[in-house]
Amino acid sequence: MTKGLFISFEGGDGSGKSTQFRLFAEYLRNRGFDVVTTREPGGTRISEKIRGILLDPECTEMGSLTEALLFAASRAQHVDELIRPSVEAGKIVLCDRFVDSSIVYQGFGRGLGEQVASINSYAVRGLYPDVTFLLDVSPELGRRRNGKTGKNDRLENQSMEYHSMVAEGYRKLAAAEPERFIVIDASADIEKVSSDIIRAFEARYPKLEP
Ligand code: TYD
Repeated sequence: MTKGLFISFEGGDGSGKSTQFRLFAEYLRNRGFDVVTTREPGGTRISEKIRGILLDPECTEMGSLTEALLFAASRAQHVDELIRPSVEAGKIVLCDRFVDSSIVYQGFGRGLGEQVASINSYAVRGLYPDVTFLLDVSPELGRRRNGKTGKNDRLENQSMEYHSMVAEGYRKLAAAEPERFIVIDASADIEKVSSDIIRAFEARYPKLEP
């Protein structure tokens, strides 16, 4: 492979994204690809420090704009230091969340709107994923599954309206960019969702070799 690939995973709480992310990375490595797995916010030393501030339950006074800019700052460092060089070196970069998370959570969720896309465009300077897997679950199922994990950081909010906003936001983004998004029905069991992801990937890149 000369130029690598950049693949992001997106989905709301309770979509099973982290498990599927891990299984897909395992599948690619078993096929012999050179894979870099990373996450947002985070992925580099500085970006992980910014993550600490973003998720800190004590940062109750953080404003929405600060939040959006910190996500973008963390992303700028991540792109420069890790993602772009890895893709240019021919690797497959798998990223757990990317710009779409900011559009949904800060743009729609915090009501910051379109400017979130602009600040992120500035942060990533043209580097967008080749493919984005959206793990789509109904807000009801997402909330039920999430309730079981008992996670709770500054950004999590258990209300039904919030889960609906996230699911709807992602569906809108996927509809606007069907050539980038692969929407996966994440309501099925783990094995079925995993094989759907792999099948969709192989259909998109039938000739890809390590
Ligand atoms: P994390 O514990 O990594 O959650 P998940 O397993 O759901 O990915 O926390 C990331 C949180 O940050 C999650 O609630 C979504 C939120 N987030 C944003 O609001 N904007 C962003 O740009 C990103 C990358 C994440």
